Amino acid sequence: MINSDIELKYIAYNDEAELEPEDRALIDDAKKASESSYSPYSNFEVGAALLLETGEVVRGSNQENSSYPCGSCAEQVALFHSGANHKDVVIKKIAVTAKKKGGSAFLPVTPCGSCRQVMLEYQIKQNLPIEILMQVSANKWIKVSSVEVLLPFCFNKNAL
Ligand code: THU
Repeated sequence: MINSDIELKYIAYNDEAELEPEDRALIDDAKKASESSYSPYSNFEVGAALLLETGEVVRGSNQENSSYPCGSCAEQVALFHSGANHKDVVIKKIAVTAKKKGGSAFLPVTPCGSCRQVMLEYQIKQNLPIEILMQVSANKWIKVSSVEVLLPFCFNKNAL
């Protein structure tokens, strides 16, 4: 028997100002994306922004439904839009933000498990890592260099 610990590698920023300009700009895009959130049930407005290798930015926001499971997360809206409209263009990074409806402060948010699985699919497809930027507390931001960091022991096509 072997007892093992998983090492989680990330970069932590204690202020948004510490982030590289490209990352800060992507976070701003994610914040703007949250303005189009349709979230009358949760009142939780999530925004996501993808930076493509072409320099283009794809935004997504959560879109809810009275039949709850029919709704989509912001990250998935952005990723599926990218897949449908920018086929085979490499996704370099994704930023995620969230706030409560009517609130001004952005809140800590990390991608849900389902979004991590969707991100993983695109990362494997493009065979290049996707960086993930997310807010983990009032002023603290984290960047991971690959989806796999957030999804250890992941399910993928090799299992099929
Ligand atoms: N949500 C996202 O858009 N992304 C996530 O990673 C977590 C959750 C949305 C789904 C739902 O509209 C609302 O946040 C509350 O769960």
